[in-house]
Amino acid sequence: MERKISTIGVLTSGGDAPGMNAAIRAVTRTARYHEMNVIGIMRGYQGLIDKEFVKFTSSSVSNTIQRGGTILKTARCGAFMTPEGRKAAYENMVEAGIDALVVIGGNGSLTGAQLFAREYDIPIIGLPGTIDNDLYGTDSTIGYDSALNTIVDCVDKIRDTANSHDRIFFIEVMGRDAGFLAQNSAIASGAEAAIIPEGSTDVDQLAEFIDRGKRKSKNSAIVLVSEAQKNGVGGAFYYADRIKKEFPQFDARVTILGHLQRGGTPSAYDRILASRMGYAAIEALLEGQRNVMIGIKNDEIVYVPISRAIKMDKPINQELIAVLNVLSM
Ligand code: F6P
Repeated sequence: MERKISTIGVLTSGGDAPGMNAAIRAVTRTARYHEMNVIGIMRGYQGLIDKEFVKFTSSSVSNTIQRGGTILKTARCGAFMTPEGRKAAYENMVEAGIDALVVIGGNGSLTGAQLFAREYDIPIIGLPGTIDNDLYGTDSTIGYDSALNTIVDCVDKIRDTANSHDRIFFIEVMGRDAGFLAQNSAIASGAEAAIIPEGSTDVDQLAEFIDRGKRKSKNSAIVLVSEAQKNGVGGAFYYADRIKKEFPQFDARVTILGHLQRGGTPSAYDRILASRMGYAAIEALLEGQRNVMIGIKNDEIVYVPISRAIKMDKPINQELIAVLNVLSM
């Protein structure tokens, strides 16, 4: 028989993402609604090892839904990747009376959750919290939409100067090994091309885009470049250097957007997504679910085994590539 869950631990782990606070709020308020105790664990898995526990009430999460970052702070915790680290974490959880965990984070964080759940008998629910949108089984992750909007806002500004100077800008965006941010921000900003790890685009195809642009009397171009490297090559500087060498007639510049993509107020979409997912995490625990990630598919909440969410490559919709190719002419 399933143990009754009376105390939930919640943590955020890995890179922060806008909407994480909305998720913490939803987990806390839904758990309190069901008269469960909530313990906020500071600094991700590191806080589990260091016993950085804070008792959360409904008011602990007041005035947080609109804030970027994470009120629980976050970390990438190497110690949790060792059996000794996980043992210490488990013992601290038992001592604090934590019966179940809600982990909000990306691929690495859910990989840690999966290891933990295999070794110890703890129900864990994962919430996909990452700007990268690279978790399988969910159409969107918490933070992705906000980051996309931030990128598009920056690209619109760069477009003004690119256009004034007749320059080609290579704008590098995050995404780790996935090209969702680059591809979709390229479509949304009317860019001329996106270079993503999932695509076969190389610099020669890029030259074709530029040529085509020139023929259509486009004097400037914006190319969104995913930070991912393929066979050790990639990144905005790499492509800009090649353009400078192979097509010196073009005036190329590079902008690396960096961590500003992760900050800022969450979009309405992310706030709603995080609220639905945080609510669903507690409902899932009450239904006896364990070791699943909450996902969203066609606007419906779904449960995805964590093992699948982290192992399977999330494919990029090929239609998005066609849309950009055609519309950027
Ligand atoms: O996973 C989120 C992410 O922002 C990636 O897009 C990026 O590659 C990485 O984290 C950067 O990590 P850090 O903030 O530790 O440098």
